[in-house]
Amino acid sequence: MDYFEGGDLNSQVKNPDLKRKVYIMAKSAEQLAVLHQLGFAHRDFKPTNILLEKNLKPRTTDFGMTCRIGLKAVADATPGFQCPEMLVSQALNKNYYADPKADVWGLGITMLVLLSGNSWFYSWSRLPEDPNVILQNLPGMITDVFNRIGSASNYNERMMELLFVIQGCLQFDPNFRLTPDEVAVRLSKIYGAMPKQVQISQPSKSSMTTS
Ligand SMILES: Nc1ncnc2c1ncn2[C@@H]1O[C@H](COP(=O)(O)OP(=O)(O)O)[C@@H](O)[C@H]1O
Ligand SMILES: [Mg+2]
Repeated sequence: MDYFEGGDLNSQVKNPDLKRKVYIMAKSAEQLAVLHQLGFAHRDFKPTNILLEKNLKPRTTDFGMTCRIGLKAVADATPGFQCPEMLVSQALNKNYYADPKADVWGLGITMLVLLSGNSWFYSWSRLPEDPNVILQNLPGMITDVFNRIGSASNYNERMMELLFVIQGCLQFDPNFRLTPDEVAVRLSKIYGAMPKQVQISQPSKSSMTTS
């Protein structure tokens, strides 16, 4: 594999250029859509698995957990990026089957991390003994991140649209989640309508992600 000079997506968390971030997210969603069309679920979609070319064009990588959609799979994606149904299947010791909707959840959390710098999603290197600990904390964390993104942008129109897309990825019921195609189309529209100089404030040091 080529060496990616831009590093992984965590390197962009501090970048205040919101338009650039929307571009990266739109392209990442497009790549996820292609993978799903080919019949595969990535199963570990997160910032460190998205590498960047020098011009910041993203490339989704690390297919170590990728498998055919519908196949019985271990529900062991990175804990903070696991969708609720995956956490529940672990908590109840039930079978889990590879599902593209789980990647959409990962896409939503990835967008939150990229926009907010919140490091909470990296809190676990392994699933805690009781996976419900993550589930119980998720709604509050998502609300907190939404508020911080929103206040940083004074709730302008584009930012609200962006938040709706993220919300569409982070539906607890997988049937209500957007598809990566829908995310890509909506983000591309937002990108096209954004003036170049839109910036968001940098996250505070205490909430910064670690790579
Ligand atoms: N080709 C590459 N170019 C630049 N950085 C890379 C490349 N491959 C891996 N990395 C860096 O190493 C990290 C781990 O690589 P990855 O292939 O995702 O392995 P792991 O199985 O440890 O997750 C990535 O998140 C990225 O920061
Ligand atoms: Mg990786």
